[in-house]
Amino acid sequence: ADGACWNSVMLIDGKEETVKSCLSPSEMKGQVFCYSSRNVSKRNCCFTDFCNNETLHLYPGIAHVMLRALGRHLIVVILVPSCLLCVGILLGVFVVQGHRCAYRRAHKQDPEEPLDDQMLMSPDKSLKDLIYDMSTSGSGSGLPLLVQRTIARTIVLQETIGKGRYGEVWRGKWRGEDVAVKIFSSRDERSWFREAEIYQTVMLRHENILGFIAADNKDNGSWTQLWLVSEYHEHGSLYDYLNRHTVSVEGMIILALSIASGLAHLHMEIIGTQGKPAIAHRDLKSKNVLVKKNGTAVIADLGLAVKLDSSTNTIDIPSNHRVGTKRYMAPEILDETININTFESFKRADIYSLGLVFWELARRCSDRGLHEDFQLPYYDMVPSDPSIEDMRKVVCDQKLRPSIPNQWQSCEALRVMGKLMRECWYANSSARLTALRVKKTLSQLSAIKDIKE
Ligand SMILES: *[C@@H]1O[C@H](CO)[C@@H](O)[C@H](O)[C@H]1NC(C)=O
Ligand SMILES: *[C@@H]1O[C@H](CO)[C@@H](O)[C@H](O)[C@H]1NC(C)=O
Ligand SMILES: *[C@@H]1O[C@H](CO)[C@@H](O)[C@H](O)[C@H]1NC(C)=O
Repeated sequence: ADGACWNSVMLIDGKEETVKSCLSPSEMKGQVFCYSSRNVSKRNCCFTDFCNNETLHLYPGIAHVMLRALGRHLIVVILVPSCLLCVGILLGVFVVQGHRCAYRRAHKQDPEEPLDDQMLMSPDKSLKDLIYDMSTSGSGSGLPLLVQRTIARTIVLQETIGKGRYGEVWRGKWRGEDVAVKIFSSRDERSWFREAEIYQTVMLRHENILGFIAADNKDNGSWTQLWLVSEYHEHGSLYDYLNRHTVSVEGMIILALSIASGLAHLHMEIIGTQGKPAIAHRDLKSKNVLVKKNGTAVIADLGLAVKLDSSTNTIDIPSNHRVGTKRYMAPEILDETININTFESFKRADIYSLGLVFWELARRCSDRGLHEDFQLPYYDMVPSDPSIEDMRKVVCDQKLRPSIPNQWQSCEALRVMGKLMRECWYANSSARLTALRVKKTLSQLSAIKDIKE
């Protein structure tokens, strides 16, 4: 139930090797879906009982070679009747294929990879309905793979809206709704796979984490297109938003609280069958936070995240510890003193970056008409594309941090934000606040605001 079966054939040392297997839904979470790589020449995935009970062959020619090896005397006995049979079968196949092609054309589907008839979607369902169905069905991790693929292949791309670390981001339309599509280049297959895998971690879904919809890979033989489909937020990133707009005191608190809530959810481990592992983001910055229409924020770009497997107390990927954006790197990452054997270290490094994002946000808070222009952290201390060395000198050696303007003292909310930032970017990582602590402080602040109004 809900799993997938597959069969594949590979050419290994000139011999075809076939593998057939099925995956349970829980195994599929790790696999993303019917993942194919270049040396697997053919792989079929399907979603009904025993549907992989067919043996794939790479080359029809191989059967012919084998026949020759059997010896000439067999040819007269076997080949002549088989040929007649083959002709019959071929005719049959042509007729059936003709029908199937017509069916696919009618349904505008990809002829290379037919979709199963077992459509889980009725045509009038919106993305919200589908995601709601999914969250109540209990798997909590993502839409069934078949549905993901179907959605991805019926999206019409509209315009590019940005360039990410890997490839481009597009706005697309699916049944009239806007979606964001991140298209990875085939070089970055691993990043695509990793991000899709993280988004499909059980119970990751949260109102302050970008809503994942689908991942799809489409291989036409020479080229792999890798898609990651998510909710679309027209305001774009917090970076773009703050560049264009100032925020009110209330607006700042709502944004800060929602970012902290998203990060607290990522960091939190939930134990139990419906639990989630602790996750550290490792590339938190204003460009990786998106602003929703109602002024709350979501955390996006989970491609560098790491998960903690608490049963074995191991981090799920061998970690290259110097990943992320140099400008936002915590001092212990810059000077390589971070202890990568404890997961807590990665969370603390996220908190440092959170402090910098809060600084960018608070500068744009317009209190009685007063606000600063938009700037990136350390804009006045390092060059525009700083090296690790530039950052290390400022952050570790000179122990500098972004400056906190004096006038913040005259506004309660800005004073609290200033204090939070300082407690997020301590050089001593174990002295930094936790995401949950930041979230609680900001909830209290927003409650006080509500009472005053
Ligand atoms: C595969 O797709 C790419 C990009 O769309 C295209 O340039 C290439 O010609 C295609 N190759 C084949 C074999 O269809
Ligand atoms: C913003 O929208 C989300 C749903 O997308 C809702 O849960 C949240 O309460 C809203 N927040 C505010 C401040 O309106
Ligand atoms: C770092 O902070 C922790 C918690 O406040 C404290 O116990 C520890 O002594 C500090 N370490 C250093 C080297 O200052």
